[in-house]
Amino acid sequence: MPVTIVVGGQWGDEGKGKIVDILSEKMDVVARYQGGANAGHTIIFDGKEFILHLIPSGILRKSTTCYIGNGVVIDPEAFLSEIEFLNSEDISVQDRLFVSQNAHLVTPLHKIADKASELSSAAIGTTLRGIGPAYTDKIARVGIRAIDVLDKEGFRTKLLRNFDSLNISDLPSFDEIFNAFYENASKLEPFISDVTSLLNRDILNGRNILLEGAQGTFLDIDHGTYPFVTSSNSSAGGACSGTGIGPTKIDEVVSIMKAYTTRVGLGPFPTELKGEIGLLIREAGYEFGATTGRERRCGWFDVPLAKRSIDINGSTQIALTKLDVLNDLDQIQVCVGYANDGVLIDHFPINADEFNSVTPIYESFEGWKLPLDNVTVYDELPQKAKDYITALEGFLNFPINMISVAPGRENLLTK
Ligand code: GDP
Ligand code: IMO
Ligand code: MG
Repeated sequence: MPVTIVVGGQWGDEGKGKIVDILSEKMDVVARYQGGANAGHTIIFDGKEFILHLIPSGILRKSTTCYIGNGVVIDPEAFLSEIEFLNSEDISVQDRLFVSQNAHLVTPLHKIADKASELSSAAIGTTLRGIGPAYTDKIARVGIRAIDVLDKEGFRTKLLRNFDSLNISDLPSFDEIFNAFYENASKLEPFISDVTSLLNRDILNGRNILLEGAQGTFLDIDHGTYPFVTSSNSSAGGACSGTGIGPTKIDEVVSIMKAYTTRVGLGPFPTELKGEIGLLIREAGYEFGATTGRERRCGWFDVPLAKRSIDINGSTQIALTKLDVLNDLDQIQVCVGYANDGVLIDHFPINADEFNSVTPIYESFEGWKLPLDNVTVYDELPQKAKDYITALEGFLNFPINMISVAPGRENLLTK
C-alpha cells in the first residue's frame, strides 16, 4: 500500500488519529492535506494521551517523516506550541517535519473574523480557529502563504491589506498584531520546503505514504451538509489537491467510521439521540471535542450517510471504531433509510430542505452487553457484536476489515 489516504467517513472525530498512528508503524511518510488546528486527533499509547491538531499523527513514530501539505492552513502559534509539546514528550521534529511553501497561514485577523461571524446570525458552531476566514482569503487570492515569511516587508504589506479590509471595530493596533504574528510566523522558516516535490520523489522511491485527512466527509465544503461544514475538501479528493500528488498515484482509501454517529457544532443530524441513550453514548464514548471540549451530539449509525461517503471517497477499506461504546445497550438501532412524506428513500438527504422533512427508518439489533477491551482477535468478539458488524457490512455492501474496541494502539481487530 504505497500511497494510502485515511479519511473520516462521517462528521469528524471518527478515530482517525488512532488508525493513522497504527498504520504509521509501516509508513515512511505521513502528510496532512487540508484543515488546520480545528482538527483534534487523539492517540493513546503507554498510558499517555496525545492530541495533535496540525502536525501529522505519524510524528509519534520516530522513523516517519511528516509533511504539512499546501492544502492545510497553518496557525503559526498553534504549530509552535505543538512542537513545544512534542519536545516536552521527548519527540523531536528536527529534520522530520516539513511545511509546504504554498500552505496558507491563519493570521490573528482570521481568528478575530471567525469569532465575529460566530456572534452573528451566520453562526455554524465553528472551532473558532480562524479556518473559514483563512480559506476565504486563500480563495479570494489575498492570503499569506508560508513562503511569504521570507520577505518581512512583503508579509507586512499583505497583512496590512487584510487589516484594512477587516470591518471590525475595537481591533488592537496593526503594529501590535503584525509584530506578534510575524515573530511566530518567521519561526516557520526552517520547516518550509517544496513538499509536493518531496512527496513525488518519495513515490518514485517506493516509500510508504499515508495522507491523513482531518474532519470528515460530511464536513466537506462541497460534499457536506452545507453551510454547516468546514471550509476545505475533507473527503479523499482533497488529498490530491492538498499535496500535489496525482490521483493515479493513490492506492488505498481507508474510511474511518464510528459504530454510531457523532457531530459537533450546528447542522442537520437525522439519527441524533436527544434523550437518555444519547447521553449514555456520550458518557461511554467520552464524546467531548478534542479541540474545543464541546459536547459532541450522538446518534445511531446511518447507513445511507455511510454509503454516500464510500462513494465520495472511493473507499477501499473501512475501519469501524468505538464498537465498545455500545457495550451496555440492550438494543442498538441502525438507520437503513428514510421516509419522506410517507415515501421511502434510501439515499442520504443531502438537500437541506429534505433534511427537515425526513424520518429515519431503523432496524434494531440486540446488544451484546459484554466488555470488549480484552478482545484481541475478531473471533473472540461476542456473537451479537459480530452479528452487528455483519449486518452493517450487508447494509453497506462493503467489508469492514478493521474494528477498534478500545482507545489504545493494541485494541484493533483485523479480519
Ligand atoms: P479523530 O479526530 O478522528 O482523530 O478522533 P478524536 O481523537 O477527535 O476522537 C476519537 C476519540 O475516541 C478519542 O478520544 C480516541 O482516544 C477515542 N477512541 C478511538 N478509538 C476508540 C475505540 O475503539 N474505543 C473507544 N472507547 N475510544 C476510542
Ligand atoms: P477532526 O479532524 C469534528 C466542525 C466544527 C463546525 C464545523 C466548522 O478532529 O475530526 P471550522 O472551525 O472548521 O470552521 O468549523 O466543522 N469541525 C469538526 N468536527 N471534528 C473535527 O476535526 C472538526 N473540525 C471542524 O465543529 O461544526
Ligand atoms: Mg477529532
